[in-house]
Amino acid sequence: MSDRVRLVTTDATRLGLRAGSADVLTAAYVLFHLHDGGLRRSDERRLLALREWLRVLNPGGRVVVFDLTHTGWTNVLAWTPGVYIASRWLSTRLTPACWRALVAAAGFEVESCEERRGNVVLVGRKSTGP
Ligand SMILES: C[S@@+](CC[C@H](N)C(=O)[O-])C[C@H]1O[C@@H](n2cnc3c(N)ncnc32)[C@H](O)[C@@H]1O
Repeated sequence: MSDRVRLVTTDATRLGLRAGSADVLTAAYVLFHLHDGGLRRSDERRLLALREWLRVLNPGGRVVVFDLTHTGWTNVLAWTPGVYIASRWLSTRLTPACWRALVAAAGFEVESCEERRGNVVLVGRKSTGP
């Protein structure tokens, strides 16, 4: 296996891999971390990462995103009244629809997007077209 797998530590927004060099990319609970903190929880860094992943994938390649939502019953913290309201106020819009829109905005075709118990599993595909 070690002759076929190479482990690297890198930044999700700058992978340092060649364009079109990957068939599949998975990201578990990374994207929700990528914001500028404080009151400015914009999606810029998430989009930066997703566009980098799109670059690295082959045409037809897929990204599989596992991440949080604030809509499932197991997301206890998010449902704690003060925390929930604060997180909404800070506009961490972690709903399946928002994840879908974000991945599409980065240039992926969204093949599926399912929510289970406070988590989203989303599959995006890089177009093979021009
Ligand atoms: C909640 S943990 C998830 C870890 C693992 N994927 C899992 O599912 O168990 C979030 C991970 O995202 C990593 N992370 C945060 N910002 C990152 C960035 N800009 N580039 C790469 N990794 C990042 C953190 O180091 C941490 O390991």
